[in-house]
Amino acid sequence: MSEAKMNGRSIRIHRLPATIVAIILTIFLVYFLNFHQEERPAIYGMLRSENPNRVNLRKMLIAAIQAAQRGGLEVLDVARSRQLKERSKGKTDEGVNDPFTDADGRSHCVMKQGLQRIFPRVQIFSEEDKEHCKQAHGYDLDPTVLHETAQIPDVTVNAQDVTVWVDPLDATKEFTEELYEYVTTMVCVAVAGRPIIGVIHSPFNGQTAWAWVGNSMSEYLSNLHPRHSANHQAPIITVSRSHTAGAKDLARGIFGEEVSLLTAAGAGYKVLQVVANNATAYLHTSKIKKWDICAGDAILHALGGTMTTLNDQLINYGPGESPVNKEGLLATLEQHDEYMDKLSKYREAHNGKLA
Ligand SMILES: *[C@@H]1O[C@H](CO)[C@@H](O)[C@H](O)[C@H]1NC(C)=O
Repeated sequence: MSEAKMNGRSIRIHRLPATIVAIILTIFLVYFLNFHQEERPAIYGMLRSENPNRVNLRKMLIAAIQAAQRGGLEVLDVARSRQLKERSKGKTDEGVNDPFTDADGRSHCVMKQGLQRIFPRVQIFSEEDKEHCKQAHGYDLDPTVLHETAQIPDVTVNAQDVTVWVDPLDATKEFTEELYEYVTTMVCVAVAGRPIIGVIHSPFNGQTAWAWVGNSMSEYLSNLHPRHSANHQAPIITVSRSHTAGAKDLARGIFGEEVSLLTAAGAGYKVLQVVANNATAYLHTSKIKKWDICAGDAILHALGGTMTTLNDQLINYGPGESPVNKEGLLATLEQHDEYMDKLSKYREAHNGKLA
């Protein structure tokens, strides 16, 4: 009995340091895996020996939100400084001046370089790719840009299947006119040509609408989207304020006398009008660049809506494709087929032409 007691005592004596070592080890491991993972993605990445040919879409979503928000800060900064250094890039197809400002350039450099540094093997197209960036920009991934309840899975895809479209400043003309509500910064992630992550950030109200098709969306976006169905309400068509001449007659011709127009600027802003049910459709009858529409395409798709060309084709955002969509645009949350039907009938009656 005394032997057993002695044994028991000797075990107890040895247990104490072992327990302390175990506790310290656990604390260290928890700290290292949880904390350093977020703060030092590069180190964590090396530890997990991440394959640069694979892209983690959860990280891509976080990086895309950060890019749009950081670009937005540059836009705000230039607006506050009142040193826009506006110059012209020429004329748009509608014959209006196509301006470029320091805000476009600075936002482009921050957004594109930041994304490219994290995803070196991914093809990124930006509206301002001709711009020369003086300094190298970068940022670390900050998962706190997602709300706590966001359901974000870890999904990886091949880097060569991913295309990223960046619009550093949508509605530059309105930006120079201080019509700030139309201004957005946008990032879109396409996989195999289909848009699956869309971010539309409004720098001047600080709100970010983002969605990952089939997974999650920002609280701002889900609050914007009315729960009730807008079915069978009179059509409200949002069109560009730069080519409203004839738009009213065209809209009446296509959708009937009860139609109304919501003139606005910026493709990002117009998509948000459809999402908020301020407009039932977004119609664009001329060429439009893919960095203008990709994020809105993803967001509408995530909400069950549809964006197509005027030939009812989905738009391909793959790397080998032209950055210009020449076939026009119809974007809706509901009743896309009915709208498309009316459009087709009108075009048939007018030798395939709109306007
Ligand atoms: C929708 O229209 C209302 C009323 O004009 C406006 O207050 C609101 O900001 C609009 N929604 C968006 C997303 O712009």
